[in-house]
Amino acid sequence: MKILAIETSCDETAIAILEAQGDEKSAQFTVLGNALLSQIEVHKEYGGVFPALAKREHAKNLVPILEAALEEAELLREDAQAIPEEVRAKISETLAREPGLTEAFFEFISKCEPPDIDVIAVTAGPGLEPALWVGINFAKALALVWEKPLVAVNHMEGHVMAALASRHHTAPPSVGSSAEAALEIKDVAMPVLALLISGGHTELVVMKKWLEYELVGQTRDDAVGEAFDKVARMLALPYPGGPEISRLAEIARSEIARSNLAQGSTLRYKLPRPMIDSATCDFSFAGLKTAVLYLLKNGPAISEKDKKHVAHEFENAVADVLWKKTSRALEETRAKTLVIGGGVSANKHIRRVFAKKMKEMHADVTLRIPSASLTTDNAIMIALAGFYRALRGGFAEAETVRADGNRSIAL
Ligand code: KG4
Ligand code: ZN
Repeated sequence: MKILAIETSCDETAIAILEAQGDEKSAQFTVLGNALLSQIEVHKEYGGVFPALAKREHAKNLVPILEAALEEAELLREDAQAIPEEVRAKISETLAREPGLTEAFFEFISKCEPPDIDVIAVTAGPGLEPALWVGINFAKALALVWEKPLVAVNHMEGHVMAALASRHHTAPPSVGSSAEAALEIKDVAMPVLALLISGGHTELVVMKKWLEYELVGQTRDDAVGEAFDKVARMLALPYPGGPEISRLAEIARSEIARSNLAQGSTLRYKLPRPMIDSATCDFSFAGLKTAVLYLLKNGPAISEKDKKHVAHEFENAVADVLWKKTSRALEETRAKTLVIGGGVSANKHIRRVFAKKMKEMHADVTLRIPSASLTTDNAIMIALAGFYRALRGGFAEAETVRADGNRSIAL
């Protein structure tokens, strides 16, 4: 099955084309094309993602990104196409809210043959609704003109699948050498506990049966990525804050390790670990964020040099809480596999803490973390989830696919 997947839930415009084989027990994927354009530079000057701006950027970028993905997949065949009048009218209606996109869409579609793909998968939520809608309308228009079935994908399920996927080592060398050129998902021991940590989500969900999720815990206020971004802003670091905090924290960590000043330096700032001992798998990060605010406002002025120590202690606090709650959830659910997904799973310190603690405390549980390039939003993960939904016949009538900013992964 060849899947073309579209992701526009936040500030990445991404399209991937995957060839998938196998079934729910064992599946192999070849990434034929993967094009992604990050809007970080556009949003940076505002210090965060603006939905209307994100939507406009997606509308501008979708056609070039599609062309790049098809070209890489060697599925682009130039040939003049006549679009029947009624199809043209329907597409104009579907794309009515994206005038710039309509023009580019028709221009591109009328010059290339329908590609050899079987399914179009698109992120329907959760995410920023205006941004989601552009991708959805674009997918609907493609499904109409190419007469392909449509699958609506939950973005968080995409993160779960990206974390479950590993490099397919027996793949022929011809498929390329990048880490995610050939992937496989197999031998997944159930139940699977997933810690999903991104800009909009912090949740623990358990999958006892394939594609059926139950919520085990979630944040009661801010998402962990949001806390990273807000604390970064307090420290006058650029958006997105997660990688910046991580960079500074790593510097502090290695300086401390080198100078052996561990005690003096780490104790310079002490931040709370909210809800760490509460008898629940829920999280709270608002208090931690506010504690940083008070530290900056009420304490002695923090120099440029000291910022890294704040970042260090903040990252330690986040990792401690994430670990404690996940460990509790592993015990409660008796999970045999732990996956960590979402943009924050790119964090080096969190990855290290989890790898170490899993060995020490849950050696019988397999830890699966996505390769670095699959942690933040991309369309490969949407294709992976789209494949499983398509296997189950989860095709959607175009009219029923709607953006749902709060779409939940749990039942
Ligand atoms: O999954 P994602 O790409 O988009 C959403 O679905 O939200 O996650 C983005 C979030 C941002 O808050 C960003 O600051 C955070 O992931 N992030 C990180 C790191 N890289 C990205 N947080 C901590 N450490 C990182 N290395
Ligand atoms: Zn995401």
